[in-house]
Parts: sequence; C-alpha cells; structure tokens
Amino acid sequence: MHVHLSLLALAAPLALASPSPSDGPARLPPHPAAHVRIPLTKRSSGLGTPRAFSHNGVADVDNLKQALKSATRKFTGGAERYYMRTGKELPGFKLVKDVTNLATGVVDGALGALGLSKRQSQTLTEYSDGLLWAGPVSIGTPAQEFVINFDTGSSDFWVPDASVSNGHSTYSASASSTWTNTTDHFSISYGDGSSVNGPVYEDTITVAGLSATKQHFASATTVSASFTDDPGDGVLGMGYESISNIGEKPFFNTLFEQGVVSQNVFSFNLGKEDAGELYLGGSDAARYTGDITYTPVTQQGYWMVKGSAYVNHNASNTDANFIMDTGTTLIIAPPTEAAAFFKQVPTARKWGSSGYYMYRCNRSWSASFSFDGSDKQFTVSSEFMNLGLISEGSLWCVAGLAAQNIGVDAWILGDVFLRSVYSIYDFDLNRVGVADLA
Ligand SMILES: *[C@@H]1O[C@H](CO)[C@@H](O)[C@H](O)[C@H]1NC(C)=O
Ligand SMILES: *[C@@H]1O[C@H](CO)[C@@H](O)[C@H](O)[C@H]1NC(C)=O
Ligand SMILES: *[C@@H]1O[C@H](CO)[C@@H](O)[C@H](O)[C@H]1NC(C)=O
Repeated sequence: MHVHLSLLALAAPLALASPSPSDGPARLPPHPAAHVRIPLTKRSSGLGTPRAFSHNGVADVDNLKQALKSATRKFTGGAERYYMRTGKELPGFKLVKDVTNLATGVVDGALGALGLSKRQSQTLTEYSDGLLWAGPVSIGTPAQEFVINFDTGSSDFWVPDASVSNGHSTYSASASSTWTNTTDHFSISYGDGSSVNGPVYEDTITVAGLSATKQHFASATTVSASFTDDPGDGVLGMGYESISNIGEKPFFNTLFEQGVVSQNVFSFNLGKEDAGELYLGGSDAARYTGDITYTPVTQQGYWMVKGSAYVNHNASNTDANFIMDTGTTLIIAPPTEAAAFFKQVPTARKWGSSGYYMYRCNRSWSASFSFDGSDKQFTVSSEFMNLGLISEGSLWCVAGLAAQNIGVDAWILGDVFLRSVYSIYDFDLNRVGVADLA
C-alpha cells in the first residue's frame, strides 16, 4: 500500500518564530519547532475476517460481544497499571489480585507486600477492534517500515519480532545499527489464557520524518494467531506513561522531550471518509471549525475527562467520566448509565444479553456529548451510531453505544464519537480539546 506523507517539518509556529522588536536580539526557539501531518487510513478488517461488526448490513453479534470483552481487558489492565504506578485508583476500580496474571518485574515495597509485581501481563493484541486508524512508522537504522495503529487508550509501542512469521512486517534488532538492548521483558497475556513474552528494546522511532531516539518498545517474539488478520502490524499507544506496561515514556512524550515537536500536543481527525489525519505537535486549523472546547484531564492515565450525555439534546447522564480512545470502535458505557441513556431513546431496548441495545431503524434520534466547562453539545453522526440490522429483513437496528462494565466507572468514547469531531490531546496543559470538523 502506498501512503502519502505531507510533511511540515521545521515550520516554526508564529509564537516562537516572530520575536517582537522590544525583546531585543531575536531569540531562537529552544529547539527545532516542528509539527507534522500523518494521513491515517481507515483499515477495516473487512468482510469475512474475525472482527467485522456487520456483514451485508446485518450486525455480527459474536464479534460485537468480543469487542466488549476486549475493552474490558484493555481498561481493567490499564487501571491496574495506573494503580501500580501512581498508587491511585481510577473511579470504580477494584484491585483484583490475580496471581496467574503476574509477570516478573521489579517488586517495590508496598506492592511487594500485596504480593504484586510492578509490571503485569496484559492483553495487547485485542487492543484494536473493527475499524483501525493506521499510519506509517519506521524503526531503526536503516529504517524498518511498519503500518501501525495509533491508540490514545494505551501507552506502549510494540511490533512483531523478526522471529515471528504471521504475514506482518517484523523488527530485526540485528539489522539496526541504532538498536540497544534492555534487561526488561514485556509480558502479554491473551483472553484465551495463553501468554507470550517479548524483550524490550531501544531504537530510533520515526513517524513522518520526526524521530525519537532511544525509544523503548517491545519486540513481540510470540504473537497469537488472532492477530494474523489485524490490518496493522502493531500498536503505538498515545496515553500517559502511568498506564504503560513497559513502564517507560511513550513515543510522543519522548518526541517532545527531545525537542523534536514544538508543542506537547497531538490531534486526531478520524474523518467521515477514508481520510483521517494525525497531527503531531499541535492541531491542524484546516481540519476543524469554530471554537475548541477544552476540558481538563481528571486522571492522567487515560485521556479521561468529565461531561454529560444527551438523547435528542436532552441530558440523560451528567457528571460522567469519559475516556477518549481512538483504539476502540464503539461508545461503551457502564450498564446503569447505558440503561439511563436508552430509557430516553424512543423504542430502544436491550438486544438480549449481548450488552447491546436495539431500536426501530425508522425512528431517528441523536446522541450528543458535552464536556466539563462548556454547554456545547457534540452530536454523533447517525451513520456511525447504526451498527446494522439485528438480522436480515429485521426492522431493528443495533446501536453503536453498548453497555459493559470495563472495571472503571467510565464511558469509552471510541471512534463512533471521535469520527464525528476533531479531538486534541494536550499533555502540556493536561486537557482535551474537542471541535467541530471543518
Ligand atoms: C537482550 O537482553 C536480554 C536480557 O539480558 C537477553 O536475554 C537477550 O538475549 C538480549 N537480546 C539480544 C537480541 O541480544
Ligand atoms: C428529558 O429528560 C428527563 C429525564 O432526564 C425527562 O424527565 C424529560 O421528559 C425529558 N424531556 C424530553 C423533552 O424528552
Ligand atoms: C416505523 O415502522 C413501524 C413498523 O412498520 C411502524 O409501525 C411505525 O409507524 C414506523 N414509524 C415511523 C416513525 O415511521
């Protein structure tokens, strides 16, 4: 596949590039001020592959159920790591001591007393479901090329190791002159009970010409069969370091620390069509319109914020926790909150015990979200909310907002929501910005 890159490297933002005369001698920016646009490709797993959510307009209940299980593993695992790293609990999180889930790692005092290791095995391959937002990333010198899923809901970067043969691009340490080893091991456990390991390495990671050197990542020496059909080679996490399984600074944070990007901010336009864009080092004014609604990150692990949900612009849920996650397709709400939401959707009812809700396809309704600090509602496009018919010829449609206890008292605002807006992730001021698409 050919990917076009439009580079804007070394284009200094005005604030840094235009010193006012009264400042005396022109000041140089503290570091090369760069930002870059990375076109994202929507890579659906396609019909017939394990993760398609619908076939010929009919929802696939098994795959939809699998997506909810994956979300539970992802967020329960992240909540555990957040607790291990910060000593703080995400809302609604209960630590479950699971000895089968422990990996070897550095045991510090307090955690050792609990019998817990600092690093825990976590599911990785199931981090993405359904639609994926992938772009080009290279590792090492000379560059080894990958197509990577960018995920704001995790904080590790991993690719398959050269010893793995699963049809994906793989990383060869011996082929890179900038590779260095670490003593760390990355442990992964799968939903089906199997577990694998991979060494943690450091190397130069490059996205569209912007390079982070000595960046930690995992080279997975075993990758489960379920990953074979995944359109991306690996996952690049863009959450906070506190949920990193490797326990090191994530890629984007390294980029900023090394002065490669001018602003500690990145932005996503997932796009209605197959034309998404990830913007590293700020936000792309050509991609949004109107004011940006900023809201503070309440827990610096996931991109978690507070806000309200609305049905037909009437509030159904207030003071909810929202996690912005480009790596989850759906919107997922805690079961009691989903029930309160669908109570206001005309004709809606539970679709069996699947966790999903269905509604009469011919009843139009809207879901909207607002964020703390503003009353502005952002409405989900109805085309993204409809996952398909419950069965062929049915009058009932499955909603893209589902109920699931993910181990944290929070909603996941996945691509069903994020495709409808421009979203900005600001590590500098620890806030999320949301704006209407241009
Ligand atoms: C990297 O280091 C680990 C731990 O010391 C070691 O087991 C492994 O063989 C090393 N990997 C390579 C490719 O040298
Ligand atoms: C708005 O929601 C409240 C409950 O939250 C409900 O009592 C009221 O009837 C709703 N209004 C409309 C116009 O649907
Ligand atoms: C939707 O379809 C049902 C069943 O055919 C019908 O009874 C109902 O009146 C329709 N509603 C609308 C708003 O068209």
